[in-house]
Amino acid sequence: MKSARSKARLGGFGSQGAHPKPGRTGPRATRLLMTTIPSVTSLATSLGEFPPEAVIFGRSEVMQSLRDRMDKVASANVPVLIQGESGTGKDIIARMIHGLSPWRSGPFVKVNCPAIPGTLLESELFGYEKGAFTGAYGSKPGRVEMAHRGTLFLDEISELDLGLQSKLLQLLQDGQFCRIGAQEDKRVEVRVVCATNRVLEVEIESGTFRQDLFYRINVVNLQMPPLRERKGDIPDLVTYFLEYYNRKYNCRARTLSGDLMSALQKHHWPGNIRELENLIKRYVILGNEEVISSDLMAHQQEFPTLDLNFDGPIALKTITRQATRELERKVILKVLQAHHWNRKQAARALSISYRALLYKIRDAGLPPNRSSRRRVDPLPTQDIAAD
Ligand SMILES: Nc1ncnc2c1ncn2[C@@H]1O[C@H](COP(=O)(O)OP(=O)(O)OP(=O)(O)O)[C@@H](O)[C@H]1O
Ligand SMILES: [Mg+2]
Repeated sequence: MKSARSKARLGGFGSQGAHPKPGRTGPRATRLLMTTIPSVTSLATSLGEFPPEAVIFGRSEVMQSLRDRMDKVASANVPVLIQGESGTGKDIIARMIHGLSPWRSGPFVKVNCPAIPGTLLESELFGYEKGAFTGAYGSKPGRVEMAHRGTLFLDEISELDLGLQSKLLQLLQDGQFCRIGAQEDKRVEVRVVCATNRVLEVEIESGTFRQDLFYRINVVNLQMPPLRERKGDIPDLVTYFLEYYNRKYNCRARTLSGDLMSALQKHHWPGNIRELENLIKRYVILGNEEVISSDLMAHQQEFPTLDLNFDGPIALKTITRQATRELERKVILKVLQAHHWNRKQAARALSISYRALLYKIRDAGLPPNRSSRRRVDPLPTQDIAAD
């Protein structure tokens, strides 16, 4: 496994390559795997519940062009590489590609590469023959075989070690692979869809990902935009998740207030749609907006946002001063909360005078005391003690 790898993420690339068509017959077809594996066939019918397409693709231009690209590629049996940050919907898109493809009645087999220990991954992917290793009491097909005449979805492909990358390359080049311990290669017809949140070019440079494999899997590239680049879609996503989880948990959480909605628009969304979904789920279950406010505030402290306007001059001093003020505000708020809004204790903890703290509280636009605390939006839920 590649735990020590570069953690660089994202990227977009060109396309090339080709792949055999499904259902092909001919002299070599006799060796094709014709067996249907029951446990896998059932996967085709359990692809999961999708949100409506209008929600998945929203209104942003970037998602509309992604949808066009996906529609075009779905019907062609070419490998697809889906790239994007965690929580942007790579899984959903992989399933949609399968659902729109001519092989939709075939299996959809997902392999979550990091979830399977390196030593087991080869047998899990390619299967083994009886006696191939200690404990191989019978033969077992791998997931590649299970995906015959369907889709093989390799999630987090960068986690494959170099040995497995070679085997995968062979599969993509000529549709052949070898079970562990087998004398002969087998042949499958399978559409390969890969996903990653890494920048594979960086992995190639560092020698942990094969360039030739990259070109094979990257015939068509789908780049998932992060949620912060499609903020206009947030209101529709919120409405959808609110209705969905209200129905699911039999709750009646109300529509979000305008203030909170604009706080959602300002958030950086490092966890993308998954983060938004979880936030709304918590709101529905716990039933108050302060839950969301406090979540957002906690994240803001971890991921300060920097909105630069490149239309005019960028004054470094001004930006630095603003950033320092913002950081100071967050630190003061956190310390006040930790001391239940007791300002004398907070001043001691911050190693500044009580007077200086009062000044900074006013300067930062924070509430001066317990009673006026609710004027600041958003604020975490905390019990507040009087000074
Ligand atoms: N466009 C979308 N519309 C509605 N829900 C979405 C959308 N994209 C993702 N989601 C929801 O967000 C969650 C994360 O999506 P998904 O698992 O597809 O992301 P991912 O990119 O595969 O993340 P990871 O890299 O962590 O595997 C899921 O619960 C999914 O239902
Ligand atoms: Mg995923």
